[in-house]
Amino acid sequence: MPPRGHALWLDCDTGLDDALALLFACRCSDAELRGVSTVAGNCALDAATENTLRILELAGAGRIPVHPGAAAPLVAGIPHAREVHGIDGLGGLAGQLPAARGRPRPEPAAVALVKALRAHPGRLSVVATGPLTNLALAQAIAPDVPGLARQLVVMGGAVGVPGNVGPASEFNLSADPEAAAAVLAAPWPIVQVGLDVTLQVRLGETEAAALEATPTGPGRAVPLFCATALRAYAAAYRRQDGDGRAPMHDPLAVAVALNPSLVRAAQLPAAVETAGALTRGMLVADRRVLARPDLLAGRRTIQCCLDVDAPAARSWLLTTWGAPPGA
Ligand code: BDR
Ligand code: CA
Repeated sequence: MPPRGHALWLDCDTGLDDALALLFACRCSDAELRGVSTVAGNCALDAATENTLRILELAGAGRIPVHPGAAAPLVAGIPHAREVHGIDGLGGLAGQLPAARGRPRPEPAAVALVKALRAHPGRLSVVATGPLTNLALAQAIAPDVPGLARQLVVMGGAVGVPGNVGPASEFNLSADPEAAAAVLAAPWPIVQVGLDVTLQVRLGETEAAALEATPTGPGRAVPLFCATALRAYAAAYRRQDGDGRAPMHDPLAVAVALNPSLVRAAQLPAAVETAGALTRGMLVADRRVLARPDLLAGRRTIQCCLDVDAPAARSWLLTTWGAPPGA
C-alpha cells in the first residue's frame, strides 16, 4: 500500500529521547511510521525492543512492525548510557508503560530495512537515532539501498561544538565508529542532526507542566507519559551538566526529517574518525568549504545542520505530544 503521509522508518536504541521521538512520529499528522528497527545503544537490544513495543502500544500504534537488529557494534565493545537512560533505557519508567500486545518480528532489522527501501524507492525517510550498526549491515547485504532512501537523517555527531561522551565525540557515532564511518561513506542522502542543533532545543519542567495541562480524555496517556519522561531526562542532564532541561536529540531528528525548514544546514565533506586515540568516533566535517567552495570539488558531502529555530521546534514537539495549543 503506498504511504499516505511522509513515510518514515525509525532505527532506534529506545532510551528516553528515542521514546519521545517515537511518540512524536506516531502522533504527527504529516507522518506515516512504516516500521521500526532496534539496536543496542542506550540500553541492551532486548530492552530497546521491549521499550519500543511498549511505547507503540501507548500510542495506539501496536500494529507497526518492530524488527530487532544488532545486539553489539560491528567491531568492539557494547555501548550503554545508563547514567542518562537508566538500566531499562527509560530512566526506570518502562514498568509504567502498558504491556505490549505486539511481539518483535522475526525478520532482522537490516533485512526488513532493505525490503522496505526496495518496496518504496525514493519514498522512505529513514531516521537513525541510535548507533548506525543496522544501517551498516543493511548496506553490506544490499549495496543498492543507500540510493533508494528519500533521505537518511542521522542523529549524531558534532560539527562545531564539543562532544558529549568525549571532547570531540557524540554517543551514537562513537558507540559504533566503524558502522558510522561506513554509512557516511556510502551514497545515502544524509542529513546530519547533531549536537550543534539538538543542544539548542532543551525542554524541562515548564514543558512537562504544559503537557500535564492537557484536558482529561482518552488521549491523555501520551502527554502524561511525555511529561514524566521529560522530567526523568531533564534530571539526568541536571546531574551531568547542571542544566535542568534536556536536549531533544532524537525528537528533533524526526522533526527535521518532516520539516527541514526548522534548520539551517550546509553540504559539508564529512567522515567519521575510527583510528584516533583521542578522537575515535568523532565526526570530522570540513567547514572550510563554507568560505572556500573550491575545496568541495570531487568530495562526498552530507547535509549538516548548523542552526535551528528552537522556539518553532519546541512548540511543534509539545503540541504534537498533546500539550494544549500555545503551550
Ligand atoms: C544520542 O545519544 C543517546 O543517548 C540519545 O538517545 C541520542 O540518540 C545523543 O548523543
Ligand atoms: Ca537514541
